[in-house]
Amino acid sequence: MISFSRFTPASSVVQLKDVFFVILLLLVLEQVIYRYKKRQLPGDTWTIPVIGKFADSLHLTLENYKRQWDSGPLSVVSVFNIFIVMSSSSEYSHKIMNSPNYAEPALVHSAKKVMVDDNWIFLMSKVHHEYRRGLNTLFTRRALGIYLKQMDATTRKHLAQWLVDASQDPTPKSIMTTVCALNMNNSLRVFCGPHISEAAAQEILEKYWMITVALELVNFPFAIPGTKVYRAIQARKVAMRHLEHAAASSKQEMATGAEPVCMLDHWVVALRDPAHKGRRDFSDREMAMVLFSFLFASQDAMSSGLIYGFQHLADHPDFLLKVRAEQEKVRGGDCDKPVTLEMMDDMPYLRAFVKESLRVMPPVTMVPFRATKAFPITDDYTVPARSLVIPSYYNSLHDPEVYPDPDALIPDRWLDPNSSANTNPRYYLGFGSGAHRCIGMEYAMMNIALVLADAAVLMDWEHHRSAESDKVQIIATLFPKDGYKLKFSPRERGGELPNEIRV
Ligand code: HEM
Repeated sequence: MISFSRFTPASSVVQLKDVFFVILLLLVLEQVIYRYKKRQLPGDTWTIPVIGKFADSLHLTLENYKRQWDSGPLSVVSVFNIFIVMSSSSEYSHKIMNSPNYAEPALVHSAKKVMVDDNWIFLMSKVHHEYRRGLNTLFTRRALGIYLKQMDATTRKHLAQWLVDASQDPTPKSIMTTVCALNMNNSLRVFCGPHISEAAAQEILEKYWMITVALELVNFPFAIPGTKVYRAIQARKVAMRHLEHAAASSKQEMATGAEPVCMLDHWVVALRDPAHKGRRDFSDREMAMVLFSFLFASQDAMSSGLIYGFQHLADHPDFLLKVRAEQEKVRGGDCDKPVTLEMMDDMPYLRAFVKESLRVMPPVTMVPFRATKAFPITDDYTVPARSLVIPSYYNSLHDPEVYPDPDALIPDRWLDPNSSANTNPRYYLGFGSGAHRCIGMEYAMMNIALVLADAAVLMDWEHHRSAESDKVQIIATLFPKDGYKLKFSPRERGGELPNEIRV
């Protein structure tokens, strides 16, 4: 029988003291471990007990990041006892991304739940390398030629709708959602062509936002009804159902000997090619998972890149004139002519503009890695095992030695083959480096270039500037803080260009 006599007020005071003592000990231990891991690196001398810099991670700003990067080539921060080493130098950033024996990409906790943990995107080392090699066929020049047709047709459809909407309500509007919709439809048409219905594409678009918000840095970790992660899983199930159906439809269509018109078709045909090296059996589900990984990896970054592309052109009318002059020349004055790969090859100014726009405002400023074991990153500092170690892309892309006047948008720096920008390609880090660098880089740049080119010949747009236009908000990727308000109008065709602008 339990003796209640033991629980006297005096003994409960003693127990309370014990609890306080243990808590105090743990808090001291937390600081000692933090200081031990931090060593000589810049960063707070003491970490805020338990939560660390949690408040900052809820309100991410570029200014805060810059402050951290400016504190040293390597610096530290702690959030909920996750020890984080940030690199701001190009040298250390490359080292992190190219040391697979010490560090590997670390997606946010919810990613595996949302994406399904057997998605190829979570593979590492040799198996990752092998799998990825098989996917390279999806980004060959031949494949890009097929995708370009889908992109051009989809983009023109969207731009026509933007003009209709603007004629009905000419007040300036944020283009965040309209650009996201254009990107999603472009991706789904490129990936699935006719194998996905308008209704299915619309359903994926409507649900996709649930996936974006579930991948925020800090989220409730359990997928119970009502949570963001739960809703994202439901959204993924819907998307996967449509993508699997598209894969099955493509297989059937290609079996009839039809011409490939999208990524799935191109993939199915490539797997049948006797010269194809590697696996040939991809189930509908596995193909759908790859396409879903592409959506996941690209949707927000593409939207950010495109929105800043529009903003940079609107804010630099001289660049827009040059882009238009090049378009007039390449299209022979016929705006309705479908764009081909050969025509894209003849647009060096547009390519330089896109590259520069993505340099000044890189959609992805960093990608977290995790140290799989103690990582001797310099002679006198070793990143502790299991820490996050985060290479910055932004700093390399704004290095004044390589890109003089680094915050200014200067497309011409890419037109001189001997410029420091062109002779130091290692610094162009916006698509990462190493085994996990962006597989869709060429396709992404081509897509952004094509949308801006079509927009430049078909429309005029006015930027409704505000005090927030040049400020940045971070929603996984970078966006103008005021949502970038634009007013579109149809462009008069055949307008004369000033002589000095002719390319
Ligand atoms: C402006 C647009 C884009 C930007 C800025 C961007 C940037 C990046 C970055 C920074 C990484 C991580 C690299 C690393 O860890 O070293 C990445 C990975 C990846 N990207 Fe992109 N990306 C874009 C568009 C795309 C597109 C359109 C696709 C596919 C169609 C794509 C597919 C992927 C995939 C699958 C990975 C993971 C690769 C792997 O783990 O092997 N991305 N991207």
